[in-house]
Amino acid sequence: MPHKRLRGAYVVLAAGRGPVLPVMHRRIGSPRYAPVSTSFDNAAQVLTPPEPNLPYLRTNRAGELRLDPGGITVDDDGRIGTLEPTSNADVHVDAIGCALLPGLVDCHTHLPFAGWRAQEYEAKVTGVPYEEIARAGGGIASSARALKETADDTVLTQAAELAKEMLVHGTTTFECKSGYGLSRDGELRALSLATRLGAAVPQQTTRTALLAHAIPNSYTADSWMDEVEAMVPEAAEYATALDIFVESIAFGLDHLDRMGELAGANNLSLRAHVEQFSTMRSVPVALKHHARSLDHLSAIHPDDIGPLGNSQTAAVLLPGAEFMGAEATAPARELIDAGAIVVLATDANPGTSPVLSLPLIVGLGVRRYGLSTREALLAVTLNAAYVLELSSEVGTIEPGKRADLVLLDCPSEHVAYRLGHNPVAATFIAGEPAYVRPDAQWRITQR
Ligand code: NIG
Ligand code: FE
Repeated sequence: MPHKRLRGAYVVLAAGRGPVLPVMHRRIGSPRYAPVSTSFDNAAQVLTPPEPNLPYLRTNRAGELRLDPGGITVDDDGRIGTLEPTSNADVHVDAIGCALLPGLVDCHTHLPFAGWRAQEYEAKVTGVPYEEIARAGGGIASSARALKETADDTVLTQAAELAKEMLVHGTTTFECKSGYGLSRDGELRALSLATRLGAAVPQQTTRTALLAHAIPNSYTADSWMDEVEAMVPEAAEYATALDIFVESIAFGLDHLDRMGELAGANNLSLRAHVEQFSTMRSVPVALKHHARSLDHLSAIHPDDIGPLGNSQTAAVLLPGAEFMGAEATAPARELIDAGAIVVLATDANPGTSPVLSLPLIVGLGVRRYGLSTREALLAVTLNAAYVLELSSEVGTIEPGKRADLVLLDCPSEHVAYRLGHNPVAATFIAGEPAYVRPDAQWRITQR
């Protein structure tokens, strides 16, 4: 029987024009459509791990990832069935000329936030010193004011639009952070908004309570940490991780130590923004608390590279923030040589990195850090899923995992090379096409 081309409803978000909220998308396990099996046929490359059930892969083993031609079958429960195509699936995806990757995982974003800070960026690139920008009310405080003054639905509409942009660039899982609340109520509101965002977008999301981001007015760093301690139990109802900004202009090593204690006591992961501008020597303190990740690391002390590389703490590098802020370059190759679990993320936020595209981040990361294609792909799939404690569920193409997939219109080497081109032809979540680029619709046919 000849295959019919799928149209209309199947191209869900590509065609969607309605209000972004309060659309409730499906939860995993409750299909929007009649369950179908899907065969991805004739891909030029399918990215697969060297062994099953890896929680992460140290980046010095990225060369073991396979990028072989072939296809896969997704079962009607939305999970990957076999690493072979099948002729009798309900839906066929013609992947000729394409790379098929696991859905991209963005493990460090500051969604949801309110508005942007474009004037601040213009001031920064034209040479206005940071202190002057801060004195004029810029920086984190400016986004905190905007969040406070913006209604819940407006914040959520902006964030959902950004989530859609992420989907179009292949992101199927992302992290949300608080951090622009800067008060107990503000932080808990941000976490509650992040939870509502997660229910309104097709991607899987996680929440991190960045409770120590900037020192709110009328507090010292110490007295704010007392407030943080009081709010952690409530924040833990929303979040899986705690986060802190350790920097000369923010919190210090003692506060990191205290956040580590709080994370341990409340059964939350510890994550931290460290060594972004100044070399603070945060790494030994964070390793003592078995931090899940340390993020930024542009100014990491050379003596801290070995211990971080030996640990199970991921090194999350943020080339968007480095590029936009003309920051130092994190020593990625040294970290890889030391055995580190290297990850790339957007750091999407209105200040240092207003970037939503992981393909662009891969392009920047590859150039800036000298990464191979496999190293970069590993950094936005399995190893990023590890940071979010989701690597048993997503992050690789292997039987049993949820079929979050990205179909590229090119071989995977083009992702970094064609900088600025969005290579995503279609994004699938739990086997369903959540986004299909109009010129790729012909690829999907139904029996
Ligand atoms: O990850 N480093 C601190 N926090 C954010 C930036 C926040 C902002 O400028 O709004 C970051 O770069
Ligand atoms: Fe950040």
